[in-house]
Amino acid sequence: MSGLRFALLEPDALGTVLALQREACGPLMHPLGEAELSDMLAGPHRGHGAVLGALTDDALAAFLAVQFPGRADHNLGRDYGLHDGDLDRALHFTGILVHPDRRGQGLHRRLIETAAQGVLPPDRHRYWFATVRPENTASVRGMLSVGMHVFARKPKHDGHDRLLFVRDLSAPAGG
Ligand SMILES: CC(C)(COP(=O)(O)OP(=O)(O)OC[C@H]1O[C@@H](n2cnc3c(N)ncnc32)[C@H](O)[C@@H]1OP(=O)(O)O)[C@@H](O)C(=O)NCCC(=O)NCCS
Repeated sequence: MSGLRFALLEPDALGTVLALQREACGPLMHPLGEAELSDMLAGPHRGHGAVLGALTDDALAAFLAVQFPGRADHNLGRDYGLHDGDLDRALHFTGILVHPDRRGQGLHRRLIETAAQGVLPPDRHRYWFATVRPENTASVRGMLSVGMHVFARKPKHDGHDRLLFVRDLSAPAGG
């Protein structure tokens, strides 16, 4: 796939991200709220996350929203049994969305790999977490393809059952 550039999005991308979400979120993703998205767009140093975009010359083709939940109650590390100190080293893949014209081309995996390799401060995370509706086959496969595995299934966000994924970067591959 060519013609895409990956870049951390700036706060002024809020409207563009929300527009893509309105257009193409579908029923299986829990939509991101404006306030939480703004906080992530503030970047890993100023805010509590980051949003990686896949851009064409004139449009946003996809994004990955990442959150550092810190000691918040909703930190999925609590479900995983992490101790308080390790909660600071958890990140959530809070939302991932690919424009329908670009689906099925491996962007789910590329967004996560690009974020992991060059964009997210390595000292900020050891544990990756995500929740995915079990019927969201593309996202389940996308999470598995980057080495994450399911550690629980329970209602999250809107009361729907979700698979809880984790990857511990210090564990051997597949751990
Ligand atoms: C989920 C979503 C991000 C996947 O993005 P994508 O770039 O099309 O996914 P990929 O092309 O990387 O495919 C990921 C895997 O799912 C498979 N897949 C893709 N589309 C599929 C489909 N419609 N049905 C079944 N499997 C599918 C791919 O073959 C790939 O599997 P593999 O790693 O075993 O080869 C995209 O469908 C989307 O934006 N959906 C709406 C928002 C959403 O639900 N987000 C996830 C919850 S936060």
